[in-house]
Amino acid sequence: EAAGKSGYDHYMLKEIHEQPRALRQAISGRIDDLGTEVELDVGLPEEYLHSLEEIQIIACGTSYHAGLYAKELLETHADIRVTVHIASEYEFTGDRDPWRTLVLAITQSGETADTLSALREANRAGARSLALTNTLGSTVTREVDDTIFIRAGPEIGVAATKTFVSQVATATLLTVHLGMIRGSLTGQTVDALLNSIQDLPGAVQQILDQESTIKRAAQQYADSDAFFYIGRQAGYPVAIESALKLKEIAYDHAEGFPAGELKHGPLALVTPDTPVIALLTAGTNAEKTQHNITEVASRGAPTIGLTGSPDVDPDLDLTFEIPECGLMEPVAANVALQLFAYHVANEKERPIDKPRNLAKSVTVE
Ligand code: G6P
Repeated sequence: EAAGKSGYDHYMLKEIHEQPRALRQAISGRIDDLGTEVELDVGLPEEYLHSLEEIQIIACGTSYHAGLYAKELLETHADIRVTVHIASEYEFTGDRDPWRTLVLAITQSGETADTLSALREANRAGARSLALTNTLGSTVTREVDDTIFIRAGPEIGVAATKTFVSQVATATLLTVHLGMIRGSLTGQTVDALLNSIQDLPGAVQQILDQESTIKRAAQQYADSDAFFYIGRQAGYPVAIESALKLKEIAYDHAEGFPAGELKHGPLALVTPDTPVIALLTAGTNAEKTQHNITEVASRGAPTIGLTGSPDVDPDLDLTFEIPECGLMEPVAANVALQLFAYHVANEKERPIDKPRNLAKSVTVE
């Protein structure tokens, strides 16, 4: 087993460090040599993708958070209405035209019972379907019209890390692919998206190089009563994904909120013993979130900001610096918060790769 971990204490830490490579694999051969076009093999007719009215994403857990990120991208850049459904709550509503609705199942394992069950319901209603998965030959691949593989390589740690970033990277490629077919993207936006995705592996590496700083912060705050993560736009899925990591492996109370919702209730939970961690990168409407930092700082909460500009806010107690990589900066920030969760859990000597009560793949509904 030690050999499998390549010298790391846990599979999770190994997989966190594998992310630059996983991301390069996800994009390899899928962007043309000039870096101006996506070459993604989506086995659905172009005319169908052109006239598509809605994408319904179905997923669970971390894959659901990747789905929320994908919605941000697809609605903004591919001009498609997207609804994201927790698979166990999904109902294919009959008032939509199944021929103009694409169901996108996002599942690392391809075996999650809730996701498969939702997919079968959509299939019965006549919708076309696509899977975004890490697992060749998995059940989901046999039940959809076509599959896009995220190519993250095997993930052993129960808490998903590299598969989340690979799911988002692949969804970004899908967004550009659909946006080009649908004529909703300017050349400038295509460049911006493709540059940001190609810059992401290097940015993630720079974050991994800051591990000792993140570890110190984790040790400093490990005994907190609870942890709150706030973000807007693409910062929101990253906030809830980061909170989930901490729940799963550190067994700490952690919640993610859209930053603007804080004042509508969760603010009552904020005390000097609840660090508030804010996503302040590109693509997160950071200027507005800064007001929320002021609100929580004035109530004594320790504040950590993930930002490209370290001097961004005087109310921040700590910053994790996120290298510039455009619209993928929230994904890079997620990597910093994976490390934060890992080191909080490690400080508490939790069984990080096999957290209590959880399974890597849940094959019962
Ligand atoms: C389980 C795992 C989670 C995962 C979820 C969905 O609950 O513990 O880490 O996100 O299943 O798994 P999937 O394979 O469908 O992405």
